[in-house]
Amino acid sequence: MNYIDDYHDVRGGFCMDTQTDNFGVIIFGASGDLTNRKLIPALFSLYRSGRLGSNFFIFGVARTKMSDEEFRKKVNESLEGEAKKDSMNEAKDFAKRCFYHVGEYDDSETYNSLKKRLADLEKKHSTKGNRLFYLATPPKIYSPIVNNLSSAELTQEPEGNSSYIHLIVEKPFGRDLKSAVELDKELHQYLREDQIYRIDHYLGKETVQNILMFRFANAIFEPIWNRRYIDHVQITVAESLGVEHRAGYFEQTGLLRDMFQNHMLQMLALVAMESPTSFEADRVRDERVKLMRSLRPFPLDDLDKYIIRGQYISGCIDNENVPSYREEPGVDSDSKIETFIAAKLFIDNWRWQGVPFYMRAGKRLRKKISEIAIVFKHVPYSMFAPLSPEELSPNVLVLNVQPEEGISLTIQAKQPGAKLCMNPLSMDFRYKDLYGLEMPDAYERLLLDCMLDDQSLFWRSDGIEASWAFVTPVLEKWAEDCQICPLTTYESGSWGPKEADQIIKQDERNWREL
Ligand code: BG6
Repeated sequence: MNYIDDYHDVRGGFCMDTQTDNFGVIIFGASGDLTNRKLIPALFSLYRSGRLGSNFFIFGVARTKMSDEEFRKKVNESLEGEAKKDSMNEAKDFAKRCFYHVGEYDDSETYNSLKKRLADLEKKHSTKGNRLFYLATPPKIYSPIVNNLSSAELTQEPEGNSSYIHLIVEKPFGRDLKSAVELDKELHQYLREDQIYRIDHYLGKETVQNILMFRFANAIFEPIWNRRYIDHVQITVAESLGVEHRAGYFEQTGLLRDMFQNHMLQMLALVAMESPTSFEADRVRDERVKLMRSLRPFPLDDLDKYIIRGQYISGCIDNENVPSYREEPGVDSDSKIETFIAAKLFIDNWRWQGVPFYMRAGKRLRKKISEIAIVFKHVPYSMFAPLSPEELSPNVLVLNVQPEEGISLTIQAKQPGAKLCMNPLSMDFRYKDLYGLEMPDAYERLLLDCMLDDQSLFWRSDGIEASWAFVTPVLEKWAEDCQICPLTTYESGSWGPKEADQIIKQDERNWREL
C-alpha cells in the first residue's frame, strides 16, 4: 500500500489517505441491485480518484446467465449517473476490467471453474493473490458460498506471503442471537476474524464518521457530554420511500432487524461510547461493544412503554397518494411486519445514568431525514424574570446525518431592539457549503478500508453478539401473541403512529419537529 496523500490541506487540516495494492474483487450476487446501485459506482469513483492500485479486476458471480460483454453493458448502465462526459474514457477502461461468471451458489462446479478463471485473471492483472470476496446475496446463501469457497481452497491466505483474502458480508448478519452466533461459527471455520468484514453502511457515512472527530478532536464537548448537562438524546432515521421492490426481503426482516439492530445501534454507540485510547480499529470497536453491553434490557412486562412498532397504511407524500404496506407488491395482505419503530433506551453506566435515548425509524414517513439531536438541560436558574428556566429553550446540538450533512447548535440570543427579547438561533455548518462537494457514498469508504486492512468501520463478532442479545428478547416477545405490544398503524406521510408520541410524551418531552 502506498501513501498518496499525507498533507495539510488548504484549510490547514491534516489529511491522510492511501492507495490500495493491486487486487481482485469477486462479487457474489453480481446481477443484483446492490451491485448495480452501490458497489459498481463506488468502485468506479475510487478508481477515478486514483485510490485504487494500478491494476485490479472485478469478477461478478451470479445465477443469471450473462457473458462478460453483457455484464460490462450492465456496468456501463450503472455508471451512467456517475460517469460524466469528462470520464467516459475512464468508464470504458473500468468496464474492461469487469468479468462475469455464471453458476449456482451451492454447486461445487461453480467454484472449480471460478478458481481456474480467477487464477488467469490474477496473473493477468498482477494482483498477487489479493482477493476480496463480497457477499451481496440473500443471507441464507452466505454459508453455502463460504463453504464452497473453502472446499475449492479459495479462502486460504498463502503462508509467508503478504497478500490478503478478505470477505465482506452484507447485513443482516443473522436474524437473531442464535443464528448470528451460528453464522459466525461457520465463517470462523474457514476465516480468521481479521479477514471478516461485516458491513453496516451507516458507519461509512461521512457524518457518522465525523462523530468521533467531533467528540474527540475538540476539547469543549466531552466535559459536557454526560448526565449532568444532557437531558436526553433523540435519534431519527426517517425515510419517505416504502418497501419498494424489496418485499421478499422485508417480509422476512421487518424494521427492527433492518435498521434498528444495526444502523441505529451503531449511531447510538458512537454518540455514547467512552473515548477510545487510539484510532486503531480494535480500540474503537472495543468501546462500541462496551457501550452495547451497557444497554439496559427492555422490560418485557412493560414493553409498550419502551418500544412500539407500527406499519404504514395508505396516505400522501409529496402530493402523491401511496398505498399501504399490505398493498405493496409481494407483501402478505395480512402481514404483521413492522415498518416503524420508536423506542426509549437507557445506558447503565456512570456517564449516562437516567438519560433517555429516544430512537425512531420508519418507512413512508413525511420526509427522508436522519439526525442525532443532543438536547441539553435547561439553565438551572433564570435571571430574566418573568421568564422561568423552562421558558428558555434548551440548547440542542444536531448532527445531521442526511440529507443536509452538517452540524447545528441552537442557542438563546438577544434579538435587536427591545431591552429583553430573546430567541433561539442556530449556528450551522453544512459540508456542502464548506467543501462544495457531494458526499462520497458510504460504500466507497468501506470498500477502500477493506482493501487497506482497516476494520474500524465494520462490526466485530462480539459487537454483533451484543446487539442481537439486546434486540432478540423483543423479537421473541413480539412473536408471541403479545397483548402489550400490538402492531400499530400510521398514515403514510405522517411521523408515525400516535403511540410513538406516547413513548416520549409520558416523560413530558416531545419529538423534534423535522
Ligand atoms: C438499508 C436498509 O440498510 O438502509 C433499507 O436495508 C434502507 O431498508 C436503507 O432503506 C437506508 O439507507 P440510507 O443510506 O438511504 O439511509
